[in-house]
Amino acid sequence: MTPFRTLDGVTVAGQRVLLRADLNVPVRDGKITDLMRLERLCPTIRELSDKGARVIVCSHFDRPKGKRVPEMSLAPVSVALGQVLGRKVRFAEDCVDIPAEQAVMALQDGDIAVLENTRFHAGEEKNDPDFAARLAKLGDIYVNDAFSAAHRAHASTEGVAHLLPAYAGRLMQAELEALGKALDHPARPVAAIVGGAKVSTKLELLGNLVGKVDLLVVGGAMANTFLAAQGVAVGKSLQEAGMHGEARDILARAKQAGCEVLLPVDAVVAGELKAGVPTRTVAIAAVPDDAMILDVGPATVQAVTQKLAGAKTLVWNGPVGAFETPPFDAATNAIAQAVAYATGGGALMSVAGGGDTVSALRHAGVLEKMSYVSTAGGAFLEWLEGKTLPGVAALG
Ligand code: 3PG
Ligand code: MG
Repeated sequence: MTPFRTLDGVTVAGQRVLLRADLNVPVRDGKITDLMRLERLCPTIRELSDKGARVIVCSHFDRPKGKRVPEMSLAPVSVALGQVLGRKVRFAEDCVDIPAEQAVMALQDGDIAVLENTRFHAGEEKNDPDFAARLAKLGDIYVNDAFSAAHRAHASTEGVAHLLPAYAGRLMQAELEALGKALDHPARPVAAIVGGAKVSTKLELLGNLVGKVDLLVVGGAMANTFLAAQGVAVGKSLQEAGMHGEARDILARAKQAGCEVLLPVDAVVAGELKAGVPTRTVAIAAVPDDAMILDVGPATVQAVTQKLAGAKTLVWNGPVGAFETPPFDAATNAIAQAVAYATGGGALMSVAGGGDTVSALRHAGVLEKMSYVSTAGGAFLEWLEGKTLPGVAALG
């Protein structure tokens, strides 16, 4: 892991702190549907403000592609942030130039301002040096608390880190420490659960994990591809026929690396993915031609939980079944509960991340019971792939 500087020992009183946050919260029908990213940002903002810094928060929001798109304004998000913080938060109509400079000039020690969406400027995603310089002008020091945007080499995540003294915020620090404990220097045995729909999107991730973990549990529709690649008939199940070679290659690499791969031994099947459809539980070798696998079965859950009982560290990305449509949430719920129990007892250090994974754990009622839940989606996946994240590297 790249070494990075934290806020410990930095004097921020009276300083203008340009804080890169990730205010890219999920929104449906104009309403924020999940406050997790805002809540997790609060400790850094409070600490800076309490120490007398002038806190200038910048972030992207959605993908306006370099244009001012009114629906992608951060103004309503800044109001929500103020509510979550329980503090006054000002808003600047632009993230650079006169509107931003005037907003910064008006700040007293301890005040907090949010700047408008950085992606309203094309220079942000291009990591344009001129745009980065205009951002850097607003601060005396730069603090990056946006681990979830650290896979982007953009002006506000990467460029500006080279122009100001740069530090990791408390959330960035927590993410890096938790992830480091999970894969860089973990207590062994280390297990990983990888689920989701496609092998193709997680190929690099699987390739990296088999070289690092002792046990790899594969679930979700992705497991169907592995099964089919080994000649198991999976009926109408979702699978990627073009990925069989890659799937076999991953299994061979796992074997070579001494990583045990646990594939489903039974499955819950139905004629279609619909709530309340009649289901059957079958051995994995007995999936009917006209049925699709929608969850792993109870024997698989038992095998997984038994194996996990011996693990000291767990990384989890992706549900093992179609959890959004009950009853196909049963296995994900049961495994989540077992993980929560082992974590609570102190036997397991569990790290989970990725959008679907967070929803699945929340659905199972155990989100708060993991050792660490990442706020990142894409950045978490790239980290699992073993990639260097430009936003993190720039803090080194
Ligand atoms: C995310 O939501 O994963 C981050 O905020 C990054 O957003 P992006 O995928 O639009 O770069
Ligand atoms: Mg996104």
